[in-house]
Amino acid sequence: MEFMSIKEALKKGHGRVAIRGWIYRERTMKDKVFLVIRDSSDIIQCVVKDKEYEKAKDLLIESSVKIEGTIRKDERAPTGYEIDVSHLEVVHKAEKYPITKDQSIEFLADQRHLWIRSRKMTAILKIRSTVFGAIHEFFRKKGFYEFQSPIIIPGGAEEGPTLFEVKYYGKKMYLAQTWQLYAEAAMFALEKIYTIAPSFRAEKSKTSRHLTEYWHAEVEVAWMDMHELIDLCEGLIKHCLKKVLEECKDELKILDRDYKKLEVALDKKFLRVTYDDVLKDLEKKKIKVKWGKDLRTEEEEKFMEGKDVPVFVTHYPKDIMAFYKPRDPLRKDVAICFDLLAPEAMGEIVGGSQRDIDIQELEKTLKKKGEKLKDYGYYLDTRKYGSVPHSGFGMGVERLVRWICGLESIKDAIGFPRTMERFKP
Ligand code: 4AD
Ligand code: MG
Repeated sequence: MEFMSIKEALKKGHGRVAIRGWIYRERTMKDKVFLVIRDSSDIIQCVVKDKEYEKAKDLLIESSVKIEGTIRKDERAPTGYEIDVSHLEVVHKAEKYPITKDQSIEFLADQRHLWIRSRKMTAILKIRSTVFGAIHEFFRKKGFYEFQSPIIIPGGAEEGPTLFEVKYYGKKMYLAQTWQLYAEAAMFALEKIYTIAPSFRAEKSKTSRHLTEYWHAEVEVAWMDMHELIDLCEGLIKHCLKKVLEECKDELKILDRDYKKLEVALDKKFLRVTYDDVLKDLEKKKIKVKWGKDLRTEEEEKFMEGKDVPVFVTHYPKDIMAFYKPRDPLRKDVAICFDLLAPEAMGEIVGGSQRDIDIQELEKTLKKKGEKLKDYGYYLDTRKYGSVPHSGFGMGVERLVRWICGLESIKDAIGFPRTMERFKP
């Protein structure tokens, strides 16, 4: 008989079925064994007795098996159906599984290669896969080209201290924090480009939102201003929410995620405020932030309290922004840039801006930041040959997945997380 997934077997609901997978739970009685089998699609309870009993009775969890039998409704079974097993084939007898109930987060992190099989991780990884697919689909439908930038680069783009060094034939190179500077060059060929690629940040912070290696969805678009860019960003996030709500309700339920909150965010327009508005709001909440200082995590969280949709915060002080964010001609001390803050204390999930196309201003800012102009030669060239207005943003995919899944830590939004303290397995 041909194998089907457990989900397909549950859908069939009657008659003969053949499945294969791993023992998720087992309970041995005097004359029968209850095996809950899992595969990537779902779990199902199986009852083994008579001639197959001997084979099943001392199997440990995570042993792999093939099963044939008859499926029928059973309200008491975990997924509402049960298989009466007529044939059991043991593919591999597992050793005693190191993961049992109620183990510490650190222990589970050490056992990540095994913990990844858990129902929780499986659900998260499916949602993550759906989000990646949604990002590609969104941009490709809009006629964007996928462009890949180098990972090993001669210099930075965001803050210097978060660069990882790489030994490169006796020279010092770095791991890319962003595709942006190369994307700005490629944009002249392709106009509308995007990528999803790893970015690297040597973060010293041990927070629930920082990884040292994360997946970065980035876009760069010719002729686009910041307001159009913000609309594009809202469209992207809503497309991801929509796809997950359409395809991953079961997974959200496994995670105990109150997905009504995501439906609300999908239905409403995201808010748009300025940095100045945030400071005013915080002042009302008795929190004083000196104008010109970046917003700290606690301040962002205070500001987001009670908000049920993401908020675009625009026009941050120019002096604390990356060199490529342009001065606003109408208000010289702020830059034409934005951060998108997610509700539920999830913090910044996107950062973006219009790009400075004034070469003198760019050179001045780079010098002020202590950068060597010769390191940016190729970048400044883009402002010499047919320069055009353009904009782009970067979204931390794990940050989005963390919010969608409602996760305590960003570490669970990726298969094998890398942080300052966690780099094995
Ligand atoms: O705000 P950032 O630093 O902006 C850039 O890198 C721009 N060059 C992007 C662009 O315009 N093309 O990073 C963008 C996003 C952040 O909003 C955040 O979601 C994510 O990348 N991010 C991280 N995610 C996980 N761990 C970290 N250490 C992250 N640092 C940034
Ligand atoms: Mg940022």
